[in-house]
Amino acid sequence: MSSRLTPYVCPEVDAYLREEEVLRSLIRTYGSPLNVVLPEVAFGNYQKFNALFESLGVRSTVYLAAKANKSKAIARRMAFSGSSIDVASLGELSDALIAGFSGERIEATGPKNDEFLKSCVLHKVLINVDDIHELDRIEALCSELIGPMHPVRVPIYIRLAIPRRITNRPDRFGVPPAEVAAAVARVRTSSYLLLKGFSFHFSTDKVSERVAMLNEALQTFIVYKKEQHPNFALTDIDIGGGYLINHLASKTEWDEFISTLKASVLQGDQTELTWNRSGLGFNVEGGKLRGSKSFSDYYQPKNQFETLREILLSPFDDTGSPLADVLRDLGVRICIEPGQSFFDQAGFTAAKIMHIKKTEHGQTLIVLDMNRTNINATDQEYMPDPLVLFSKTDGSRDAVGEGFLVGNLCLPADFISRRKFFFGQPVSVGDVLLFMNTAPYLMDFSESTTLKQRVARKIALVRRAEGVEWYEDENYIHL
Ligand SMILES: Cc1ncc(COP(=O)(O)O)c(C=O)c1O
Repeated sequence: MSSRLTPYVCPEVDAYLREEEVLRSLIRTYGSPLNVVLPEVAFGNYQKFNALFESLGVRSTVYLAAKANKSKAIARRMAFSGSSIDVASLGELSDALIAGFSGERIEATGPKNDEFLKSCVLHKVLINVDDIHELDRIEALCSELIGPMHPVRVPIYIRLAIPRRITNRPDRFGVPPAEVAAAVARVRTSSYLLLKGFSFHFSTDKVSERVAMLNEALQTFIVYKKEQHPNFALTDIDIGGGYLINHLASKTEWDEFISTLKASVLQGDQTELTWNRSGLGFNVEGGKLRGSKSFSDYYQPKNQFETLREILLSPFDDTGSPLADVLRDLGVRICIEPGQSFFDQAGFTAAKIMHIKKTEHGQTLIVLDMNRTNINATDQEYMPDPLVLFSKTDGSRDAVGEGFLVGNLCLPADFISRRKFFFGQPVSVGDVLLFMNTAPYLMDFSESTTLKQRVARKIALVRRAEGVEWYEDENYIHL
């Protein structure tokens, strides 16, 4: 039994992959693992989001969600574009300011300690407020920092919780529907707060749920927009991130993989596909298949831009007109906070094969000079096949056509993935595996120096008129 999951590689990234000598020399110099980031690809995604909003005539702001990748080069590239940035910690705020984003182009989301909130206020960062108490905390900090006579206003969004009638999956964030009026009342009596809009972030793969939530936010917006109040400057609805991206070249391969996995779990013979007969979330109870997959949908039929277009062209509940038309007529600015979709295709991870061995049970292990933390966001399985940069020395002696990819940690659980990988052409020690599209979260979200193994260096590749140039990520220069 063999299975392939060919990664999707866009033409621009494919052209960088052809620079084999540059890649070989970078791996020689900076070692394994190595993260390659592609600032111009990220910029291209930004341009596509903008073009989409322009084609619909909807005012927009794109806040790149900094949490999805720590690259300083990409942040710097984007500081030189019209993009804004969404930061979720004091560290991310500090990096954004250093990259060149002024406070007015920054939004702060997520849980915030006092130091983070104080810096947001001082830098005029828009604060995406998660609950009523956060409003009180900002108010208290403002009186401490600014003094009651100072005319400074703190721009805020009130983040709306997703109502139960839209989803029954609990989510820790947002102001519950029953408390929104109280939160707005708190803004009315404030000496500092300026309500710019309402926001939500909804992790769902169902467009219908997102559309329902945009309708909800728009209804809320319309109610308060009618009210003239000095503490209201309502212009924005922030619909967050969560636009899914496609990692794979073939739907057929993906469907076949899932059906083979399910069939082999049912028959109890998945040893050929996964490590230690793991069902990757599936199991059998009473002869029936139970559970759900412990990995995300690496194949997506639509890209992020198509999904967003579909959302914006869906009907407004009150009138049936496309939401985009209603938003345009009301002059609403739609803000988005794309993370994975902003960094889509904007980087990959290279790792060298250190060693190949057989276990006592006959399985082939391909040991890489990287570990699970170097390619893992939320402890889900990594699925796409790596590409191979073959070493120039003859490795035919130890070459293998299939095996499990394991890491450099002295820990039994350090599997790059529990999926078995099958290679079109056998691989051997010294070859470099290229894991594609790791820039969205995978390359550095959970990276750690566990066992004092190093984390990957980041190198930014840029195509200039004279050819491809590279920079250490922190030393990137935008020309
Ligand atoms: C508030 C907020 N905005 C944006 C994002 C980015 O989401 P994604 O990477 O799915 O686009 C997240 C992710 O956790 C988030 O919590």
